[in-house]
Amino acid sequence: MPHSAVLNVMIKAAYRAGRSLKRDLGEVENLQVSLKGPRNFVTAADRRAEEIVYEELAKARPDYGFLGEEGGAREGADKSHRWIVDPLDGTTNFLHGIPHFAVSIGLERDGAVVAGVVYNPANDEVFVAERGKGAYLNDKRIRVAAREKLADAVVACGMPHYGRGDLALARHEIAAAQQNFAGLRRYGAAALDLAWVACGRLDAYWERNLAPWDLAAGSLLVREAGGFVSDCDGKGDILKSGDVVAGNDFMHRELLRLLKEAAAEAGKAEIRQ
Ligand code: IPD
Ligand code: CA
Ligand code: CA
Repeated sequence: MPHSAVLNVMIKAAYRAGRSLKRDLGEVENLQVSLKGPRNFVTAADRRAEEIVYEELAKARPDYGFLGEEGGAREGADKSHRWIVDPLDGTTNFLHGIPHFAVSIGLERDGAVVAGVVYNPANDEVFVAERGKGAYLNDKRIRVAAREKLADAVVACGMPHYGRGDLALARHEIAAAQQNFAGLRRYGAAALDLAWVACGRLDAYWERNLAPWDLAAGSLLVREAGGFVSDCDGKGDILKSGDVVAGNDFMHRELLRLLKEAAAEAGKAEIRQ
């Protein structure tokens, strides 16, 4: 399936930023690192990659708006188009030399994501999708897994840590997952978690307290691969809520049910305290 001109621009930007990240990965011990909040790192590599992506996208579409994790929002003359960019998703992995991180670029048109690229430069896997045109991994069409048995499912999740997120609720959610699924994984890069649901490596994924740049491209990959994506209440506007539940139709519904039960348990546990 030939890609549109705008998707080719996004892929080129992701590759260029990926080359810069690969170079920095080799120098990770010398990288300047600072904290954005409790255990929330940013490095010179994140900032460099974001500038490269901005440069490439602005060259091709100078009027589009730009929302980047590190540089924030940049207004564009064209109010209906906005890039949503995470230059390095998985910064903590990157800082530890764990080759599981990605450049994530989404294109939003009139409030809906219409194109997405998630590129892991460490293994050269590029996931792309355009609305209505399907999802691809290295140019091969991908579909979500068809499994409909919880006991066979491998599921990924976020794991709130010190100072970020509701630890008590997460304990109940993780306990519910441990009792129902074949495996639970915490990989540390939300955009890749969604991409792996889209290509069927993972049967489902859930996480809370994410930002639009963690979710924009990955959510379109799942939808274009035949999957379902919503917030933890089953509603669609995940870029606003920051919570995500993704999977095939069966897994998405079942995970929503388990999360609801876990929230009720957490509520009861809190009352008992
Ligand atoms: C983080 C990763 C991580 C998720 C965090 C995100 P970053 O993105 O996606 O998996 O649990 O909430 O902030 O900070 O590495 O771009
Ligand atoms: Ca991120
Ligand atoms: Ca990031």
